Amino acid sequence: MAKKTIDDIDVAGKTVLLRVDFNVPLDASLQITDDRRIRMALPTIQSVLDRGGKVVAMSHLGRPEPGGDNTRFSLKPTAKKLSELLQRPVAFATDTVGEDARAKVAELADGGVLVLENLRFHTGEKKGDEELARALAGFGDAYCNDAFGTCHRSDASMVAVPRAMPNKPRVVGRLVAKEIRYLSDVIQHPERPFVAILGGKKVSDKIQVIRNVLKICDRVLIGGAMAYTFSVARGGQVGNSLVERDDVPLAKKLIEQGGQKLVLPIDTVCGDAFSSDCDRREVAVGGIPDGYEGLDIGSKTTALYCDLVSNAKTVVWNGPMGVFEMPPFDLGTRAVAEAIARTDCTSIVGGGDSAAALTQFGLADQVTHVSTGGGASLAMLEGKQFESLAVLDDV
Ligand code: 3PG
Ligand code: MG
Repeated sequence: MAKKTIDDIDVAGKTVLLRVDFNVPLDASLQITDDRRIRMALPTIQSVLDRGGKVVAMSHLGRPEPGGDNTRFSLKPTAKKLSELLQRPVAFATDTVGEDARAKVAELADGGVLVLENLRFHTGEKKGDEELARALAGFGDAYCNDAFGTCHRSDASMVAVPRAMPNKPRVVGRLVAKEIRYLSDVIQHPERPFVAILGGKKVSDKIQVIRNVLKICDRVLIGGAMAYTFSVARGGQVGNSLVERDDVPLAKKLIEQGGQKLVLPIDTVCGDAFSSDCDRREVAVGGIPDGYEGLDIGSKTTALYCDLVSNAKTVVWNGPMGVFEMPPFDLGTRAVAEAIARTDCTSIVGGGDSAAALTQFGLADQVTHVSTGGGASLAMLEGKQFESLAVLDDV
């Protein structure tokens, strides 16, 4: 996917309207608990500032109800964090396209940065409203999308805004360029063997990803709770494990389609309660006793998966192998993460839970790419086309 990037356009003395994804987690006292999405936007912002441009950054945060008490959805803490990370002042507008935003955009000097208040305080953002889009479009001489986590959405700031700027440059930022490179380009032309590891709770969330990667991977390894739905499809006993009964026929079909490529667990760690100190047993797959539930892949499966990973040239990982937040049921996920970190192959980790697991194990800097997108990385692995990217300038 060859899109023009921020580095391809002249920004000196110009205002870049930059869509970022500052939808970061906040605790009860409105402290940011994970600033990764903000840090990952820095290269694009820095590139504009270094070349004498100005940045007007816009984002959503959470899912506020327009008109409600939205204090906890304000982007103000992200402007403060951005200022700390850039080590320079960052202005904040208390509205999105109102008087304060207009005044602060007009005041912005070369090398200046402004963060607008939450786009979703306007109902028009989710609706793709053109009036809101025109007001935002008026703030920039160029549009840049560096909001990878939101690229699967068609919100006004993602699609209608660049559409409202037909005669201005509309480009991707460095983060989006990097995400596309790994989650789309590398995957289309992988070095082989190419192994995908897919886990997580629900088969239904991952169906399209499994289908798509079965077409392009050499091996697709399944873990997490969705393995129990596959186990039922093969006639196994799963006790109290999480199973999506409605998806058993689908799992059967995937087993047929996948043939040798689809690798399912051969053993399981189960417990008699969802707790760290439950009675823990390791059993063959399909042999989970009544009163027990599957909580992790077993040691034989772990060894098999780590072996397949260590011989791969490209690895994509999305979704944990077990309840990694609750030791000792983190062992399978941890071993697979360590195997991925150990290899020098191209390793790509889809966002959300697998990114959290990597961070928990201290391995986040030992893989090639950790996506900042949850839903967006899944959609890209499904092979979906994004309207938010289609609307931008091609090289
Ligand atoms: C995310 O965190 O998934 C993105 O920021 C998109 O947010 P949304 O799921 O509320 O659209
Ligand atoms: Mg989401």
